[in-house]
Amino acid sequence: MSLKGKHMLCTQDWSREELEEILVLAEDMQRERYTDKYARVLDRRTFFMFFYNPSVRTRQSFECAATELGGHAQFLEPKSMRLKTKNTAGETIEDAAKVMSRYACGIGIRILEDKIGSYGEGHALCQEYAQHSEVPIVSMAHDKFHPCQGLADMQGLRQHWGREQVKGKKLLQVWGHGALARSWCSVQESILISSRFGMDVTLAYPEGYDLDPRVIEQTRENCRENGASFAIENDPVECYQGADVVYSRNWMHPDTYRDGELRKSEEIERALGYPQWICDEEKMQKTNDALFTHPMPIDRGHEVSDPVADGPRSIIYDVAENRLHVQKALMALTMSDLK
Ligand code: CP
Repeated sequence: MSLKGKHMLCTQDWSREELEEILVLAEDMQRERYTDKYARVLDRRTFFMFFYNPSVRTRQSFECAATELGGHAQFLEPKSMRLKTKNTAGETIEDAAKVMSRYACGIGIRILEDKIGSYGEGHALCQEYAQHSEVPIVSMAHDKFHPCQGLADMQGLRQHWGREQVKGKKLLQVWGHGALARSWCSVQESILISSRFGMDVTLAYPEGYDLDPRVIEQTRENCRENGASFAIENDPVECYQGADVVYSRNWMHPDTYRDGELRKSEEIERALGYPQWICDEEKMQKTNDALFTHPMPIDRGHEVSDPVADGPRSIIYDVAENRLHVQKALMALTMSDLK
């Protein structure tokens, strides 16, 4: 199967077989990291990384990925281009995408909560680039999805349990209070990919913190198709019962966008009103000796306590490392002639 030219805006757009191909190649790329096996895959090719928002893991891992494949990654920001926006004249996305496609082998885009006025605008922008680009568009995290994070999460679970042992395990995807109003991308990607791989999914959050209903419906459908269960709970303690992996993460209330604006400080004040929503050692006692994971950056002391984040069951740094391996595999399969 050839994946060359395929965009990656959400893992849900890819078949299970295609996702498997990325994950298996990522495992080999991890093993062969410093051998010559994949060292020329992106020879003389450049990957554009277009960041509306800052990043530690995403920028660094994509840049390392391009280097390790023998290519180059170029950092771009909106201020380095003259793009048309709602309020300013400039180049259309169509023209920018067509021109950028003539230079690069692929284009990554990150656009998160504070660079848009309503949920879905970031996704629409990525889709517009994908419509006009002649090279793959990769979401480097946008308001709806974070596919590379989802792949890295899945690789982390397979590393710890084995490829075939993920199915039937229980993921607790639990909200954490905090001083950040985070977008829904990592959490929505996580429940989608976990349910594709046959995991039972429990989503736990304080009443009102609902995610995108279309993503919830898709997760339910994935669970039905894969013989898994899906539940939503609102109890910050009982939800831990029987979990095999706990993934704590803050996400913003759906009312955070109002009248075309992100009400961030209002949301932070609301979220800090739920101090019982923290993943700590006492709650982890209720689990099935669960792994702990988080996409990082962590809001320590709010989303999770230090002893859990730094404890023996935490896989946070493995998952962060996996960003490199899955992105190398994705780039190789979609942007090179690697078969
Ligand atoms: N997990 C993740 O995307 O991290 P960064 O925001 O640092 O890129």
